Amino acid sequence: MTAAAMSLASLTRTYENTCPATESGTLRLRGAPEVKDGHLVIKPVLVSDNSVFGAEVSGVDWSQPLSKDTVDQLVRVQDRYAVLIFRKTGLDNERHIAFSQQLGEQEINPFFYGRENDRIGEPFLWDVGNINLDGTLVQPDQRRWQHSLGNALWHTDSSYHQQRSKYSLLLSHGNPVKGGSWTHFADMRRAYADLPQSKKDELEGLIVEHDLWHSRKLAAPETFSNPLPHELASKPPAYHRLVQTAPNGQKTLYLAAHAKLIVGRSLEESQKLIWELMDHCTQPKYVFSMEWLEGGDMVWWDNRQSMHRANPYTTSMTARDVRRATVIDDGPLAHGVSVEERTAALKGN
Ligand SMILES: [Fe+2]
Repeated sequence: MTAAAMSLASLTRTYENTCPATESGTLRLRGAPEVKDGHLVIKPVLVSDNSVFGAEVSGVDWSQPLSKDTVDQLVRVQDRYAVLIFRKTGLDNERHIAFSQQLGEQEINPFFYGRENDRIGEPFLWDVGNINLDGTLVQPDQRRWQHSLGNALWHTDSSYHQQRSKYSLLLSHGNPVKGGSWTHFADMRRAYADLPQSKKDELEGLIVEHDLWHSRKLAAPETFSNPLPHELASKPPAYHRLVQTAPNGQKTLYLAAHAKLIVGRSLEESQKLIWELMDHCTQPKYVFSMEWLEGGDMVWWDNRQSMHRANPYTTSMTARDVRRATVIDDGPLAHGVSVEERTAALKGN
């Protein structure tokens, strides 16, 4: 390993070393009171003086298509809490996709190669579980295992797309083994708000290059130091501003393990700042961990104002069948930074 690679490796934070064991693995309800909003009951997860993040929501009748009024209400709740958890929805693939379509245009799973080659058989759903087509569990010698290791790094989905994704909706099928299946979330609005003003001034206007293959290489260097040519061609880097405005008007950080370069800075300088910020944003006070309890549990998060990560695959893991629908961003920041803006930034304009 080169000195530069060793230096980058030492900056990488993974599932094991980001969150202390005593802090992870718990949906930490901080005693915040339930909120009633029409027919919805909302239990906030992380509450501070100036912020709320995450909520468990009940009162939605998932047995039939949702009305536009209910969808609009849920989007307002989503804008406020950024991560919504629904238990025992009873949704199947078809209704999962139908609800996601009510939220916007769907991303097509780029790894879908026809129904006969896909365990789920739906181009709008990502298979992010650990089960092979033949029902066996994914093994370490599979490229899919190595690729999935990057999902255990803190990230936002599809930040490496020039038109990024807005929402992800992850639905559990079957019953996970209790204590064995978690997804972890970090509050990027509050993390930004708590930065000192001098740091906010430094970050304002910075442009970040996001590259899927950067996070794959960090997590699985043996496999992804040199991605296959068609892999590289399918996912070129994308450019987005680091400091953005969240749907509720607060400023937020748009950050992920996919973040490779700050435009105008060296790789090492960029990674130092990026992982300094990742460390800041993923302190236990900004993070909660959601346990998957039963089939039908669903979590819907906003990639524009949160980061998340999965548990990494292990050889002792149990079967986990989770499927993700992804909604493309159509907002004012959806398309990131243009070539002209990047050129101007490099010239210092
Ligand atoms: Fe993800």
